[in-house]
Amino acid sequence: MSNRKGIILAGGSGSRLFPVTMGLSKQLMPVYDKPMIYYPLSVLMMAGIRELAIITTPDDRAMFRRLLGTGRHWGIKLTYLTQPTPDGLAHAYVVAEDFLDGAPSAMVLGDNIFFGHGFRDALQSANRPGPGCTVFGYHVSDPERYGVVDFDASGRVLSIIEKPKNPPSSYAVTGLYFMDGSAPERAGRIQPSARGELEITELLLSYLEEDLLQVEHMGRGIAWLDTGTHGSLLDAGNFVRTLQKRQGMQTGCPEEIAFEQGWINAEGLRKQAEIYGKNDYGRYLLGLLDDQGTGRRQPVANHGR
Ligand code: G1P
Repeated sequence: MSNRKGIILAGGSGSRLFPVTMGLSKQLMPVYDKPMIYYPLSVLMMAGIRELAIITTPDDRAMFRRLLGTGRHWGIKLTYLTQPTPDGLAHAYVVAEDFLDGAPSAMVLGDNIFFGHGFRDALQSANRPGPGCTVFGYHVSDPERYGVVDFDASGRVLSIIEKPKNPPSSYAVTGLYFMDGSAPERAGRIQPSARGELEITELLLSYLEEDLLQVEHMGRGIAWLDTGTHGSLLDAGNFVRTLQKRQGMQTGCPEEIAFEQGWINAEGLRKQAEIYGKNDYGRYLLGLLDDQGTGRRQPVANHGR
């Protein structure tokens, strides 16, 4: 089993969503029927990661802890770390250095939502052991809002550029990063950018310089959803609702993944279901127990196959 640890970055002021995020952390906002952080957490759980750190602002930490607790009820172990000031995504690796203790990691941004065909395979291929860093390039209509991959004619990666005015390609780097154990030490060497942050692109470039950066193509069959504006947050919620309603299956459901992974047993799942009383979420979890061994449901439901 891999010793890879997980990091979920849920800091930041969420100022783009003011006033809704003035009283509540962005990553606790609902995306249809679940708090936003359930979705990236489910992604790391699907990658088989059981030891995770959640990085929040000092103010928000207690609320995340109230929501997620120790993680034991889902067969995982959660650690809460704080980032006092928004010093950049790469700074998360400085904060998480002791937690990682030399282990490889997967970091996901707490506001990134993924769903789709082939997503589990993409996770598996990024999760291989060995040196280096793997990220995902995804075709978008507005690359200037993201870190963008610059390729040469043969598809070799030349550079990654943060929010370029003239994007060299339409491939944005998603907020899901698989890194080897050297990431904290590399992050410690980065100089703050003009806006005073340790930029994630600088960390990726340090791998690229040593030919240790792998950019995997994340295909159009996978939805990578944005929650950066009021409209896109609503769209993400509607997407989840449409999908779940049609399929009768949840996306971003940690209890289901924990059960599938064998990290909690039927009794553990039943206990979780009881928390939700008779609402749809609780009924869904109970349904997983009823379906068990009947062939009514094939495994690996979350986030597509
Ligand atoms: C950050 C990163 C950017 C990446 C994006 C993915 O941008 O800096 O490279 O493409 O996340 O969501 P932010 O969303 O913080 O502006």
